[in-house]
Amino acid sequence: MDTPDVVVVGAGVIGLAVGWRAAAAGLTVAVLDPTPTGGASHAAAGMLAPVTEVHYGEERLLALNLASAARYPTFVAELEAAAGVTVGYRTEGTLAVALDAGDRAVLAELHAFQTRLGLRTELLTSRDCRLLEPLLSPSVRGGLFVAGDHSVDNRRLAAALLAAAERAGVVVRRSRAVELVVDAVRVRGVRLADGSTVAADTVVLAAGCWSGSLAGIPPGLLPPVRPVKGQILRLAPGPGGAAGPRRTVRGVVAGGHVYLVPRADGELVVGASVEEQGFDTTVTVGGVYELLRDAQALLPGLSELALVESTAGLRPGTPDNAPLIGRTDLEGLLLATGHYRNGILLVPVTAEAVTAMLTSGNTPPVVAPFDPRRFAAAGAPR
Ligand code: GLY
Repeated sequence: MDTPDVVVVGAGVIGLAVGWRAAAAGLTVAVLDPTPTGGASHAAAGMLAPVTEVHYGEERLLALNLASAARYPTFVAELEAAAGVTVGYRTEGTLAVALDAGDRAVLAELHAFQTRLGLRTELLTSRDCRLLEPLLSPSVRGGLFVAGDHSVDNRRLAAALLAAAERAGVVVRRSRAVELVVDAVRVRGVRLADGSTVAADTVVLAAGCWSGSLAGIPPGLLPPVRPVKGQILRLAPGPGGAAGPRRTVRGVVAGGHVYLVPRADGELVVGASVEEQGFDTTVTVGGVYELLRDAQALLPGLSELALVESTAGLRPGTPDNAPLIGRTDLEGLLLATGHYRNGILLVPVTAEAVTAMLTSGNTPPVVAPFDPRRFAAAGAPR
């Protein structure tokens, strides 16, 4: 494929999903990445949690998150059929719990906010929480159950997207994009680290927190993304068997936040720190300690599990915590990046919207508020 219709820079879940859907819609697509399915897609926990992760002032983002969550069942069914593998989609709901009285007040406030937004959540007593999750500490003061917040195994999801994309004819080149090739009027392709160039009139930049690092992008159009570090752990059943929860448990623990996301095979993901440290992915003693301390306060049996992985990923943060999806002022350059804490959740809606833009030229209303050009106005935060 010398000149594909579209080149996608970045083979994380967003770039692969865009590539797969665009190819399924009839376009020829190349995806460029030295380590497909790596990066934040690999480090993530896979929570699909628009309701438990809702934040003040982010109502527009909530609408996008809910739209993507609603697409997940169909998206997963189509992906599993296309890739021939399963992705560990789980629908048992999410239980948010509080450890002390102050934490309980935080959850009560969250519940009131969710209710004002018309979201369905249920306040629970300590006893109710332990009926749902018998391994929870008796110290848990109460909680909040959100039936609609689900999870997926992000690593299986990424592998399935890679398989589906390749089956659909996408060429995945294990090479690093170093420069966007532009002429006086528009995008012309992408130069790779080996010196070769893939010519294309349309480039979708889906390189997560590295999206601002590609040479050749006119300075005023650099995507305002930054790395936000998250340290995260993976635990496995120990000699005594499993000691994890049945569903995702999120905890407010002495004012801090921790989440525990179980997999069908007994793996338990524990995350995550939120750190502004630039492109640093060091796993620190303090980071691991705080995650285990808070997780164990919720689930005392956790100490029986095996610690099998500690890693750090870099979320692509933006000035308003919302993604950049759509065209830029450079003809032929589209963005699908900046998904910050919702990259796994936003896969279906992002892929659908970008594919619509590529095939029809139209911007679906659901992503219109996330036009990358919203930061271009003078004085807008970057
Ligand atoms: N959404 C989970 C995280 O960003 O850690």
